[in-house]
Amino acid sequence: MTDADAVHRLLQAHRSIRSFRQDPVDDALVDASLIDALQGSSSSGNLNMVSVIKTRDEGLRRQLHTLHGEQDMILQAPLLLTFCADTHRTRTWLAQRGARLGFSDLVSWHVASFDAMIIAQTAALALESRGLGICYMGTTLFSMAAIAALLDCPDHVLPVTTLVVGWPDEAPAQRDRLPASAWIHDERYQRPDAASIERDFRDRDERGKARYLAVPHMAEQWQALGIDSLAHYYTSPIKYDPDVFAEFSADIERALRRNGFLA
Ligand SMILES: Cc1cc2nc3c(=O)[nH]c(=O)nc-3n(C[C@H](O)[C@H](O)[C@H](O)COP(=O)(O)O)c2cc1C
Repeated sequence: MTDADAVHRLLQAHRSIRSFRQDPVDDALVDASLIDALQGSSSSGNLNMVSVIKTRDEGLRRQLHTLHGEQDMILQAPLLLTFCADTHRTRTWLAQRGARLGFSDLVSWHVASFDAMIIAQTAALALESRGLGICYMGTTLFSMAAIAALLDCPDHVLPVTTLVVGWPDEAPAQRDRLPASAWIHDERYQRPDAASIERDFRDRDERGKARYLAVPHMAEQWQALGIDSLAHYYTSPIKYDPDVFAEFSADIERALRRNGFLA
């Protein structure tokens, strides 16, 4: 098998896993995956301004469960990996060498958080290649400051994303993606017109709606809130409510200010 075949097969096999066996996850296997991930990821300035916190402790996981909106996987998965943007270590190194201090601004936040996301995704692939299952926890962003405090992060260290990790106890179907025509542009951005939106979203609208309505409590919520399409669902109070996002955005701004990334 060529490398391209192996990577193709790995990518096609990706599924977010939300149900895990209770078998332990060997620490050496996790560290090998993380070390591969850092080596296999490009890194801005090769500064490696990232930290990952491995959490296995049940007490901590219980507290993280609350901070992650009580998503079951936090309790079920034996391991949580919290990826942090970290300019603290670099700043400490600068100070120790008597160099001018830096990396305490919005640019550095982006540089470090992009590195953290890149490494998280490479780690996800490295873990999946070893048969482990993962699911991202987007809720990291919404509880950034509280997770940082719980995990003893100093200033200039903020969690960006979390992976729950464990041996899969489910084999979900592959989830659809937007077709190539929706997002791959030649030379210049081609604005979507009404017809292309219809074409590119039709399957997703139908499949997504059917998937949610197949879950009894979801079907009840859709009916109670008068939701009749996937688009209406996404910005409804039970998914990505813009008013709630506005509050979370203000929280993120406060966290960046308090942790030294925003003046
Ligand atoms: C940044 C990010 C945050 C996510 N947050 C969550 C989450 O909080 N809970 C969850 O169940 N899935 C979460 N997911 C998983 C997505 O729902 C999933 O990747 C998407 O539905 C496609 O499914 P697939 O990964 O199985 O292909 C997240 C994915 C990403 C990339």
